[in-house]
Amino acid sequence: MVAHKHKTAPSTPLNINWRTSFGVESKVTVGAGICKRAGYYLSQLNVGRNVLILKQPHLDRETLDAIVSDLEERGHDPNVMELPDGEACKSNATLLSVWQRLQKLGFTRQDTMLAIGGGAITDLAGFAASTYLRGINLVLVPTTLLAQVDAAIGGKTAINLDAGKNLAGTFYFPRTIVVDPETLQTLPRRQFVSGLAEVVKYGMLEKTIAAETEYKPGPIPLIDFLENSLSKDFSPSDPIMSGIIMSSIKMKLAVVAKDPHEDGLRRCLNLGHTVGHGVEKGSSYQLTHGEAVSIGLAFASQLAVKFKMLSEKDATRTITLLKNVELPTSIPSDLKLEAITEALFHDKKRSGKSFKMVIPNGDLGTVDYTKIVHADELTTYVEEFIAEKLSE
Ligand SMILES: NC(=O)c1ccc[n+]([C@@H]2O[C@H](COP(=O)([O-])OP(=O)(O)OC[C@H]3O[C@@H](n4cnc5c(N)ncnc54)[C@H](O)[C@@H]3O)[C@@H](O)[C@H]2O)c1
Repeated sequence: MVAHKHKTAPSTPLNINWRTSFGVESKVTVGAGICKRAGYYLSQLNVGRNVLILKQPHLDRETLDAIVSDLEERGHDPNVMELPDGEACKSNATLLSVWQRLQKLGFTRQDTMLAIGGGAITDLAGFAASTYLRGINLVLVPTTLLAQVDAAIGGKTAINLDAGKNLAGTFYFPRTIVVDPETLQTLPRRQFVSGLAEVVKYGMLEKTIAAETEYKPGPIPLIDFLENSLSKDFSPSDPIMSGIIMSSIKMKLAVVAKDPHEDGLRRCLNLGHTVGHGVEKGSSYQLTHGEAVSIGLAFASQLAVKFKMLSEKDATRTITLLKNVELPTSIPSDLKLEAITEALFHDKKRSGKSFKMVIPNGDLGTVDYTKIVHADELTTYVEEFIAEKLSE
């Protein structure tokens, strides 16, 4: 059997060096147990003494103490600020309190913000770091699967406004991203599984990304590999974890390098996200982002069957893969069509009365990201999906 790159469980960290669109050198390091060594990766950047560590409440004392003392030993002056958990940390009140702390600490543009936690904190930290003094150094240590393969990668930052999620944001690239799969072992199961939806999404995009970027796929397509590996008992401590995280990150970086501001190819990363966002917001965020994306991936697969772009067999393969890790693949019965369409029509991806949808095309791993679907048609398709008649 051919050794496959998704299987790598590196004992030494793997690095990806990456030149961002603004000419900034960015680096992603993936390795089991490297979270506590975040100070080492930060000190490699030749930055100022001041470090503000932003953390969510879940972070264990031992990891935090290890990072703080490591930074001190390397001549840095770390300060710790605990932020509210989850979406509450993406508020303008939190943002203001972070700016005020930076000001109190006398931060200069040579100093560094280090954020450790899920996508909520990496989004907020990115926004705060990009706007304070028009940009201070940023180091991210994502600790959820969703943040490791998606939110912390690719330079999008955001805070929420009263009118909606992620309405204020910037593009800003961290100097370094430290990805430690071991941190996933404390993640609640629901959060871990939610992140797997984004990994499945990369499997559904791999051939398009390989065809249009410098990403080099391994001998076994990620989607096949996931089909052979994922089950309801799949654990974050599985030795393949580092490999599938690495493949996902490489795909995202390859896409972002080609199209940083989402003028074309980057739109493919929205596979499953149009209806996904509608369902996530329509459920008043009772569904996690990954659960909503999973429903969106099932929708996109069935829509592809309707459009004769994908075989029934391949759509079923995707839906079975999602179900195998107990991700939802249909809209919960208590969620009303009106709630979903109301949320859909406020989507940033809408242009006028139509949506640019990403739809599987030809075989699993290939998508068409240029398909225009009119709002009225999309409403009908969602209605059919709810009635389980979409692919008929
Ligand atoms: N910038 C982007 O490109 C991008 C992409 C996708 C999603 N996002 C954003 O990411 C956010 C969602 O991220 P998320 O799913 O990571 O949610 P999250 O940050 O809210 O984290 C989920 C929960 O897991 C906890 N947690 C985090 N790491 C843990 C660990 N190792 N052990 C135990 N608990 C842990 C957190 O405290 C929180 O309660 C949303 O705000 C979304 O808008 C951004």
